[in-house]
Order: sequence, then structure tokens, then C-alpha cells
Amino acid sequence: MTGREHLILGIESSCDETAAAGVADGRRILSNVVASQAEIHRKYGGIVPELASREHLRQIVPVVREAMAQARVPLGDVDAVAVTQGPGLIGALLVGLTYGKVLALSLGKPLIAVNHLEGHVHAVLLEARAAAREPQFPAVCLIVSGGHTILYSVQSRPANGAAHISYTRIGGTRDDAAGEAYDKVARMLALGYPGGPIIDRLAPHGNAQAVRFSDPKMTGNPYDFSFSGIKTAVLHYLRRQPQLQPEIERRRQALARGERTADQLRALSTTTTLDLIASFQRSVVSNLVAQTFAAVRQHPARAIFVSGGVAANSELRSAFETEADRSGVEVFFPSRALSTDNAAMIAAAGFARFMAGDSADSTLNAEANLPLA
Ligand code: KG4
Ligand code: ZN
Repeated sequence: MTGREHLILGIESSCDETAAAGVADGRRILSNVVASQAEIHRKYGGIVPELASREHLRQIVPVVREAMAQARVPLGDVDAVAVTQGPGLIGALLVGLTYGKVLALSLGKPLIAVNHLEGHVHAVLLEARAAAREPQFPAVCLIVSGGHTILYSVQSRPANGAAHISYTRIGGTRDDAAGEAYDKVARMLALGYPGGPIIDRLAPHGNAQAVRFSDPKMTGNPYDFSFSGIKTAVLHYLRRQPQLQPEIERRRQALARGERTADQLRALSTTTTLDLIASFQRSVVSNLVAQTFAAVRQHPARAIFVSGGVAANSELRSAFETEADRSGVEVFFPSRALSTDNAAMIAAAGFARFMAGDSADSTLNAEANLPLA
């Protein structure tokens, strides 16, 4: 730590990651500790909220302690404690928020409430800043994760030491989030949990043109998304292909034996399955890219930010890069580690609020549906 830097301790517990991080001046990550609960939720094929809260309770103290140890900064040198207020699972949010509140109070330091979605935006800004690659505004931001698929127009104006950023919602999913569709399709195909990373690894081995999924038909806001249709289409496809059931069962047994690497599951997947996986991913990715660029045409932007767990997807990244080159708009992604839930992004978002003097008091409460705009 250099003398004039401000250190924010970030705490995140909105979903199935217990995370804490120390970030200096919203740009220099001193530590970023993430305890994932994937191992616990895996056997249920999705997040079980009660188990998530219990696990956060078990992890919160050691995770914060580890983040401070790795940052090599005594707790007393923290300038503020930033906690995720929402959106997320209420029982999960409460663990991090209550702990952060008590910590801030006992240290006599400001408590900063952070919207988890704004955290995902700051994951992009933090790394862009650290790489001396300041994005231009206005920007269009796609947040695409297991819980959210949402488009914002993002504006920035200079303010006391950190930019003041404001958001306007352009569109969002009407049903499932894109990551949720990945997880549900992976579950139907017995590919393990979470589904995104494994589908990402298997898709290049299939033919993405093999199965045609029709685009969602929606009236109203043209920038909305829908992913429940493709999930149902995969289900119907599997019903029409009963010969795939034995291999699904073989993969289920492999998963039960702990064999869940891409190579192990690929060896148990026929061309038909790999083609289905590739086609599913192509359809989701094309839809996300098309909707985002359509939004850019309507809400002129100089940059695109893509953040959230699904932003770690290889095909999504390359499709955005290709389209960005073609259109001349710069696209920014966080590194894969900062794409999925983490607390460095909460500390970075908290830093901007801290500089704006925007602190919370002890009445702060978690909000499961906290909107960003
Ligand atoms: O941001 P995140 O960690 O948690 C939420 O706020 O939801 O996102 C988790 C989601 C899961 O649905 C997971 O399957 C998906 O992100 N995901 C991916 C990839 N890595 C994680 N989806 C597609 N490709 C990936 N490489
Ligand atoms: Zn998230």
C-alpha cells in the first residue's frame, strides 16, 4: 500500500460464492479470495438456497481473514467495507451484509452498500484501468450470468476522485438467464454443474449448424431476451432422440464417480450430442451478440462491456470481438477470474461510492431484487 491509496475491503455473498478482496483505489487488487460452493450444489444440479446460506456462514470469517492476510494489510488500515446489498438470494446476502456491517462498525470505518450488478460493471472498469485502457462512454453493458441477462446504457461523468456512473436499463430476460439455460441444458445432458464451463469446452467438438433453434419470438421491447424456449427445444429434441438416453445414463454414472472433466465427458458423448451442444451454444451466443449490437445502434455507444459468469465463454468472447472489429466499437471483458462472482469487483464499485461520500448506516438491509436502474 502506498500512502495516499484508499483500501476497500469488498465482501460478496449473493449467490454461491463466498468472497472477500482488498482493492486499492479501485484499480489495484491486493487480494481476491473466492470460496466456491459448486461442490455442494453439484449433486442437486443447481443452487439450493438453504445450503448456500449455511455455507456462507461457515466460510465468511476465514475468507475475510484470508483476504486480509493475502493483502498483507492489517484490518485497521482498511478505509471502508463494501458489501453486496443485492440482488441475490436473501439468506445468502444477509450473511455477507451482516458480517460487513459488524466489521465496519467495530473498525469505525464507513460501510458501503454495493449493487451486485454494478459490481459486474466495475469488474470491467477495474481491469481496464489497471491496463491503462480507459473505456470511452457512453457504453452499452451486457451482464450475463446464472442469475441475470440484462442490457444497460452506461454514462460516466467525472466526480471527486472517481467517476460517477449512471445506468439506464435497455432490456433484459423475460424468463431464464443465459447461464441458467446453460446449467439446465447441462443437467438434461448429464454434463455436471455448473454447465457453462463444460459446454464451453465441448462445443468446439460439434457442428454448430447441425440443429436449428428458432429465435425467440417476442412482442414489445426488442432488446429483451428469452432463454426458456431454447431450453424446452433441447428437451423436445432429446425426447425425439431416445437413442441418446443410454449415453446420458453413462455420463450420469461417470459424474457420480467424480469423472467430470471435459475429456472424460467428451469420450462418453456421441457426435449427435456434441452437435446439439455446439448448436445450443451458437444459438445463445448469436442471440446475445445480435441483441447487444442492436442496442448499440439504438443507443449510440463508444464501448461495449460484457460481464458476468457467461462472459467467460470462449465463443461469446470471439463473437463479440469479431462483431466489434466490424463495427468499430471497442469491446471490454473482465479476465475470466473476474467474470464470475468475486469481491474485487464489489470493492472497486465500493471505491467509487466511497469517494462520492455515499456510505450506508446500520439500518442497511439486504434486497433480493435490488434494481440497478
Ligand atoms: O456471475 P456468476 O458467477 O454468478 C451469478 O451471478 O449468476 O455466473 C455463473 C453462471 C453459471 O450459470 C455458469 O454456468 C455460467 O455463469 N458460466 C459460463 C461459463 N463459465 C461460467 N457460461 C458459459 N461459458 C462459460 N465458460
Ligand atoms: Zn454475478
